[in-house]
Amino acid sequence: MIEIYGHGGDRETAAGLYGLPAADFLDFSANINPLGPPDEVKEALMNGLQSVVRYPDPGHRSLKGLLSRRLRVSPERISIGNGAAESMALILLGLRPQRVGLVEPCFSEYAELSLKFGGSINRVYGKASLQWRADVEDIQRLITEVDLLFMGQPNNPNGVQYGRDELLAVAAAAERSGTYLVLDEAFMDFIPAAERITLLPELERYSRVILIRSMTKFYAIPGLRLGYALAAPDVIRRMTNQQVTWSVNGFALLAGEACLSSGQAYEDETLKLIAQERQRLLSGLSELGCGVTASQTNYLLVRAPGMWKAVELQDALGRRGVLIRSCAMYPGLTDSHFRIAVKDQEANQVLLSVLEAVLEGERRGGR
Ligand SMILES: Cc1ncc(COP(=O)(O)O)c(C=O)c1O
Repeated sequence: MIEIYGHGGDRETAAGLYGLPAADFLDFSANINPLGPPDEVKEALMNGLQSVVRYPDPGHRSLKGLLSRRLRVSPERISIGNGAAESMALILLGLRPQRVGLVEPCFSEYAELSLKFGGSINRVYGKASLQWRADVEDIQRLITEVDLLFMGQPNNPNGVQYGRDELLAVAAAAERSGTYLVLDEAFMDFIPAAERITLLPELERYSRVILIRSMTKFYAIPGLRLGYALAAPDVIRRMTNQQVTWSVNGFALLAGEACLSSGQAYEDETLKLIAQERQRLLSGLSELGCGVTASQTNYLLVRAPGMWKAVELQDALGRRGVLIRSCAMYPGLTDSHFRIAVKDQEANQVLLSVLEAVLEGERRGGR
């Protein structure tokens, strides 16, 4: 297995395991926009090289200003992080929850960080019949038992959203019990605006709801690290009090500003590509006998056909230069579950062909 650090996108481990150069893998294990960063980002980084001699703005004022205007949220409700992962850590460090609730299967860092910072974990589980969403009654009950609850919206690894009424019910339960509700919207930008189910427009009504967003996935800058959290001003202050000064570097800030100034065309092109290619992968994988969850975003949760275990498939594909994310270690899923990113047509076709060859090889009697 290649997830020795708990995540996909680990080309170095894959190189060690499968004996190919790290750069040569076709990586479906991290969910990054296949278009690459907008041109504006590349230009901003090239033109901004000389700013390496200056400290970045510790108040992240320019990026906050742009986000504030775009999202219609005042700057005192915004915290910029070194990736959404840092935003999660700052929430836990600032709010110090003893008991953390998780809706499994979910992004493994929620548990990792909570345990690192001394919290204990209570879990509820999604159901196959609900595309791995959990019953809202179970989530509402969990909310009364914990100090803070993480939920993915859309959730990783299944790529589905909770409905608006469900979200409102969960947020109301959180306000009633004084439990912080962290809605991780890291992949929200990949969903067309009309289909997004988010509490962003009414965030000011809530004192306990916190939204997290990532800029590394949609704008394809995971190497730079950039994310943000949106919450009540006192929550943001408590997060800022825990943040290492300058943890968000100058290039990440420059890139973030360029992302937000990039035109509508990049967003439209991304959404069109993802919708089209997700459908291609869904059909291709189903034809190969895989079970596929109806994701709304840029990755698919897949159940391997026949007796295949995800790690066996991962090894067979890895040896052929294609990386997938095993989901066998996600509580609530099975050892046959894996996740793939939606990439461009050429890459997706390679994945389907290699997968077909591997599955066909087995039918003929050799793995
Ligand atoms: C659901 C989810 N949230 C947050 C993150 C972290 O994002 P970032 O790269 O901005 O730290 C990830 C990364 O894979 C993720 O899957």
